Amino acid sequence: MDNAPIAVFDSGLGGISVLRELTGQLPREDFLYFGDSANAPYGPKTLEAVRTLTLAAAEKLFARGCKALVVACNTATSAAAALLRETWPARPVVGVEPALKPASVHRRVLVLATEMTLREEKFAKLLRDYGGSSDVSTIAAPGIVECVERGETAGPALEEYLNALLAPCRDNPPEAVVLGCTHFPFAKDAIAHALGQPVHFYDGAEGVARETRRRLAACGLLSGRPGPGHVELTNSREDKLETAWKLLQM
Ligand code: DGL
Repeated sequence: MDNAPIAVFDSGLGGISVLRELTGQLPREDFLYFGDSANAPYGPKTLEAVRTLTLAAAEKLFARGCKALVVACNTATSAAAALLRETWPARPVVGVEPALKPASVHRRVLVLATEMTLREEKFAKLLRDYGGSSDVSTIAAPGIVECVERGETAGPALEEYLNALLAPCRDNPPEAVVLGCTHFPFAKDAIAHALGQPVHFYDGAEGVARETRRRLAACGLLSGRPGPGHVELTNSREDKLETAWKLLQM
Protein backbone atom coordinates (compact mmCIF):
# COMPACT_ATOMS: atom_id res chain seq x y z
CA MET A 1 0.00 0.00 0.00
CA ASP A 2 1.21 3.47 -0.81
CA ASN A 3 -0.74 6.70 -0.29
CA ALA A 4 1.63 8.88 -2.37
CA PRO A 5 -0.01 10.66 -5.33
CA ILE A 6 -0.11 9.38 -8.90
CA ALA A 7 1.46 11.89 -11.32
CA VAL A 8 -0.50 12.70 -14.48
CA PHE A 9 1.26 14.63 -17.23
CA ASP A 10 0.21 16.26 -20.51
CA SER A 11 1.50 19.01 -22.80
CA GLY A 12 -1.39 21.11 -21.48
CA LEU A 13 -5.05 20.68 -20.56
CA GLY A 14 -5.88 17.61 -22.67
CA GLY A 15 -4.71 15.07 -20.11
CA ILE A 16 -7.60 16.14 -17.92
CA SER A 17 -9.77 13.90 -20.12
CA VAL A 18 -7.63 11.00 -18.81
CA LEU A 19 -7.58 12.34 -15.24
CA ARG A 20 -11.42 12.28 -15.20
CA GLU A 21 -11.36 8.57 -15.99
CA LEU A 22 -8.54 7.90 -13.49
CA THR A 23 -10.42 9.55 -10.61
CA GLY A 24 -13.52 7.55 -11.58
CA GLN A 25 -11.72 4.19 -11.61
CA LEU A 26 -9.33 4.94 -8.71
CA PRO A 27 -11.41 7.12 -6.34
CA ARG A 28 -9.17 6.53 -3.31
CA GLU A 29 -5.99 7.72 -4.98
CA ASP A 30 -4.44 11.19 -4.80
CA PHE A 31 -3.49 12.71 -8.17
CA LEU A 32 -0.96 15.41 -8.99
CA TYR A 33 -1.62 16.73 -12.50
CA PHE A 34 0.93 18.80 -14.39
CA GLY A 35 -0.01 20.45 -17.69
CA ASP A 36 2.80 22.10 -19.62
CA SER A 37 0.61 24.73 -21.32
CA ALA A 38 3.54 27.18 -21.49
CA ASN A 39 5.13 24.83 -24.04
CA ALA A 40 1.98 23.48 -25.73
CA PRO A 41 1.42 22.33 -28.40
CA TYR A 42 3.95 19.48 -28.41
CA GLY A 43 2.65 17.95 -31.68
CA PRO A 44 4.58 20.24 -34.09
CA LYS A 45 7.84 20.20 -32.03
CA THR A 46 10.91 18.07 -32.73
CA LEU A 47 11.26 14.64 -31.14
CA GLU A 48 14.24 15.91 -29.16
CA ALA A 49 12.29 18.88 -27.76
CA VAL A 50 9.35 16.71 -26.65
CA ARG A 51 11.72 14.21 -25.02
CA THR A 52 13.51 16.97 -23.10
CA LEU A 53 10.25 18.59 -21.91
CA THR A 54 8.72 15.25 -20.92
CA LEU A 55 11.80 14.13 -18.96
CA ALA A 56 11.92 17.49 -17.16
CA ALA A 57 8.25 17.20 -16.20
CA ALA A 58 8.68 13.61 -14.96
CA GLU A 59 11.73 14.64 -12.93
CA LYS A 60 9.70 17.35 -11.22
CA LEU A 61 6.75 15.05 -10.51
CA PHE A 62 8.88 12.22 -9.09
CA ALA A 63 10.77 14.78 -6.97
CA ARG A 64 7.39 15.58 -5.39
CA GLY A 65 7.16 11.96 -4.24
CA CYS A 66 4.75 10.55 -6.84
CA LYS A 67 4.58 6.74 -6.83
CA ALA A 68 3.74 6.32 -10.54
CA LEU A 69 3.44 8.39 -13.71
CA VAL A 70 0.59 8.43 -16.20
CA VAL A 71 1.67 10.09 -19.45
CA ALA A 72 -1.76 11.41 -20.45
CA CYS A 73 -0.43 12.64 -23.79
CA ASN A 74 -0.23 10.47 -26.92
CA THR A 75 2.51 12.69 -28.32
CA ALA A 76 4.77 12.50 -25.25
CA THR A 77 4.10 8.75 -25.00
CA SER A 78 5.23 8.13 -28.60
CA ALA A 79 8.29 10.33 -28.13
CA ALA A 80 9.44 9.46 -24.63
CA ALA A 81 7.71 6.47 -22.96
CA ALA A 82 10.70 4.15 -23.52
CA LEU A 83 13.10 6.78 -22.24
CA LEU A 84 10.98 7.40 -19.12
CA ARG A 85 10.93 3.67 -18.31
CA GLU A 86 14.70 3.49 -18.80
CA THR A 87 15.27 6.51 -16.54
CA TRP A 88 12.89 5.38 -13.75
CA PRO A 89 12.92 1.57 -14.00
CA ALA A 90 11.44 1.10 -10.52
CA ARG A 91 8.38 3.32 -11.12
CA PRO A 92 5.23 2.29 -13.00
CA VAL A 93 4.98 4.50 -16.13
CA VAL A 94 1.72 4.15 -18.06
CA GLY A 95 1.26 5.87 -21.43
CA VAL A 96 -1.74 6.58 -23.65
CA GLU A 97 -1.92 5.57 -27.32
CA PRO A 98 -4.57 5.93 -30.04
CA ALA A 99 -7.33 3.37 -29.39
CA LEU A 100 -7.08 1.74 -32.81
CA LYS A 101 -7.44 -1.78 -31.43
CA PRO A 102 -11.07 -1.45 -30.21
CA ALA A 103 -11.96 0.76 -33.20
CA SER A 104 -10.74 -1.81 -35.71
CA VAL A 105 -14.06 -3.70 -35.51
CA HIS A 106 -15.36 -0.97 -37.87
CA ARG A 107 -14.77 -0.91 -41.62
CA ARG A 108 -13.89 2.77 -42.04
CA VAL A 109 -11.86 4.35 -39.25
CA LEU A 110 -10.55 7.90 -39.00
CA VAL A 111 -7.68 8.57 -36.59
CA LEU A 112 -7.32 12.17 -35.40
CA ALA A 113 -4.03 12.89 -33.60
CA THR A 114 -1.02 15.20 -33.60
CA GLU A 115 1.57 15.28 -36.38
CA MET A 116 4.14 13.63 -34.12
CA THR A 117 1.86 10.81 -32.96
CA LEU A 118 0.98 9.96 -36.57
CA ARG A 119 4.64 10.11 -37.66
CA GLU A 120 6.23 8.04 -34.90
CA GLU A 121 6.99 4.31 -34.87
CA LYS A 122 4.46 3.57 -32.10
CA PHE A 123 1.58 4.46 -34.44
CA ALA A 124 3.14 2.59 -37.38
CA LYS A 125 3.17 -0.51 -35.16
CA LEU A 126 -0.47 0.03 -34.11
CA LEU A 127 -1.40 0.25 -37.78
CA ARG A 128 0.48 -2.97 -38.58
CA ASP A 129 -1.10 -4.78 -35.62
CA TYR A 130 -4.70 -3.56 -35.82
CA GLY A 131 -5.19 -1.58 -39.03
CA GLY A 132 -5.25 -4.58 -41.40
CA SER A 133 -8.97 -5.32 -41.58
CA SER A 134 -10.17 -1.68 -41.70
CA ASP A 135 -9.80 1.20 -44.09
CA VAL A 136 -7.86 3.56 -41.80
CA SER A 137 -7.30 7.22 -42.65
CA THR A 138 -5.43 9.76 -40.52
CA ILE A 139 -5.66 13.53 -40.07
CA ALA A 140 -3.49 15.74 -37.87
CA ALA A 141 -5.67 18.25 -36.04
CA PRO A 142 -3.46 20.77 -34.19
CA GLY A 143 -6.25 23.38 -34.29
CA ILE A 144 -8.33 21.37 -31.80
CA VAL A 145 -5.41 21.49 -29.32
CA GLU A 146 -5.26 25.29 -29.66
CA CYS A 147 -9.01 25.69 -29.06
CA VAL A 148 -9.08 23.39 -26.02
CA GLU A 149 -6.04 25.18 -24.56
CA ARG A 150 -8.14 28.35 -24.76
CA GLY A 151 -11.00 26.55 -23.03
CA GLU A 152 -13.10 26.47 -26.23
CA THR A 153 -14.85 23.12 -26.53
CA ALA A 154 -17.56 24.59 -28.77
CA GLY A 155 -18.12 27.83 -30.66
CA PRO A 156 -17.46 29.39 -34.06
CA ALA A 157 -13.62 29.10 -34.18
CA LEU A 158 -13.68 25.36 -33.44
CA GLU A 159 -16.66 24.78 -35.78
CA GLU A 160 -15.04 26.62 -38.66
CA TYR A 161 -11.76 24.75 -38.19
CA LEU A 162 -13.45 21.34 -38.02
CA ASN A 163 -15.76 22.02 -40.95
CA ALA A 164 -12.75 22.76 -43.17
CA LEU A 165 -10.61 19.93 -41.76
CA LEU A 166 -13.29 17.25 -42.07
CA ALA A 167 -14.90 18.43 -45.33
CA PRO A 168 -13.07 15.72 -47.36
CA CYS A 169 -14.60 13.03 -45.10
CA ARG A 170 -18.21 14.07 -45.54
CA ASP A 171 -18.78 12.22 -48.85
CA ASN A 172 -17.62 8.92 -47.40
CA PRO A 173 -17.80 9.41 -43.63
CA PRO A 174 -15.98 7.11 -41.20
CA GLU A 175 -17.95 4.73 -39.00
CA ALA A 176 -15.52 5.28 -36.14
CA VAL A 177 -13.26 8.11 -35.04
CA VAL A 178 -10.22 7.45 -32.84
CA LEU A 179 -9.48 10.48 -30.68
CA GLY A 180 -5.70 9.97 -30.66
CA CYS A 181 -4.89 13.11 -28.71
CA THR A 182 -6.09 13.68 -25.17
CA HIS A 183 -7.33 17.18 -25.98
CA PHE A 184 -9.83 15.83 -28.50
CA PRO A 185 -12.47 14.19 -26.25
CA PHE A 186 -13.38 17.72 -25.14
CA ALA A 187 -14.28 18.51 -28.77
CA LYS A 188 -16.22 15.29 -29.41
CA ASP A 189 -19.61 16.96 -29.95
CA ALA A 190 -18.11 19.51 -32.33
CA ILE A 191 -16.35 16.73 -34.28
CA ALA A 192 -19.58 14.71 -34.56
CA HIS A 193 -21.40 17.83 -35.72
CA ALA A 194 -18.77 18.62 -38.38
CA LEU A 195 -18.93 15.05 -39.73
CA GLY A 196 -22.68 15.50 -40.11
CA GLN A 197 -23.65 12.00 -39.01
CA PRO A 198 -23.37 9.79 -35.93
CA VAL A 199 -20.05 8.00 -35.48
CA HIS A 200 -18.53 5.74 -32.82
CA PHE A 201 -15.81 7.46 -30.80
CA TYR A 202 -12.81 5.74 -29.21
CA ASP A 203 -10.23 7.24 -26.90
CA GLY A 204 -7.50 5.78 -24.72
CA ALA A 205 -8.61 7.12 -21.32
CA GLU A 206 -10.54 4.11 -20.07
CA GLY A 207 -7.78 1.68 -21.06
CA VAL A 208 -5.11 3.84 -19.41
CA ALA A 209 -7.05 4.00 -16.15
CA ARG A 210 -7.55 0.22 -16.20
CA GLU A 211 -3.86 -0.36 -16.92
CA THR A 212 -2.85 2.08 -14.14
CA ARG A 213 -5.01 0.20 -11.64
CA ARG A 214 -3.58 -3.14 -12.80
CA ARG A 215 0.06 -1.94 -12.55
CA LEU A 216 -0.42 -0.38 -9.11
CA ALA A 217 -2.11 -3.53 -7.83
CA ALA A 218 0.67 -5.73 -9.24
CA CYS A 219 3.31 -3.60 -7.46
CA GLY A 220 1.33 -3.41 -4.19
CA LEU A 221 1.06 0.36 -4.64
CA LEU A 222 -2.71 0.93 -4.45
CA SER A 223 -3.77 3.47 -1.82
CA GLY A 224 -4.88 2.11 1.54
CA ARG A 225 -6.91 5.21 2.34
CA PRO A 226 -10.54 4.51 3.36
CA GLY A 227 -12.01 7.78 1.98
CA PRO A 228 -11.83 9.65 -1.33
CA GLY A 229 -8.51 10.89 -2.70
CA HIS A 230 -7.48 14.45 -3.48
CA VAL A 231 -6.69 16.05 -6.85
CA GLU A 232 -4.09 18.81 -7.27
CA LEU A 233 -3.91 20.58 -10.63
CA THR A 234 -0.70 22.38 -11.58
CA ASN A 235 0.36 24.03 -14.82
CA SER A 236 3.42 25.81 -16.22
CA ARG A 237 0.92 28.64 -16.89
CA GLU A 238 -0.87 29.68 -13.72
CA ASP A 239 -3.55 31.44 -15.77
CA LYS A 240 -4.69 28.06 -17.19
CA LEU A 241 -5.76 26.62 -13.85
CA GLU A 242 -9.30 27.99 -13.90
CA THR A 243 -9.93 26.42 -17.32
CA ALA A 244 -8.28 23.20 -16.08
CA TRP A 245 -10.79 22.91 -13.20
CA LYS A 246 -13.69 23.64 -15.57
CA LEU A 247 -12.57 20.88 -17.93
CA LEU A 248 -12.24 18.44 -15.02
CA GLN A 249 -15.86 19.11 -14.11
CA MET A 250 -17.17 18.67 -17.69
N1 DGL B 1 -2.60 16.12 -25.66
C1 DGL B 1 -1.56 15.69 -26.47
C2 DGL B 1 -1.74 14.31 -27.06
O1 DGL B 1 -2.44 13.51 -26.51
C3 DGL B 1 -0.79 16.62 -27.36
C4 DGL B 1 -1.29 17.93 -27.80
C5 DGL B 1 -0.15 18.83 -28.24
O2 DGL B 1 0.47 19.40 -27.35
O3 DGL B 1 0.14 18.94 -29.43
O4 DGL B 1 -1.18 14.00 -28.07
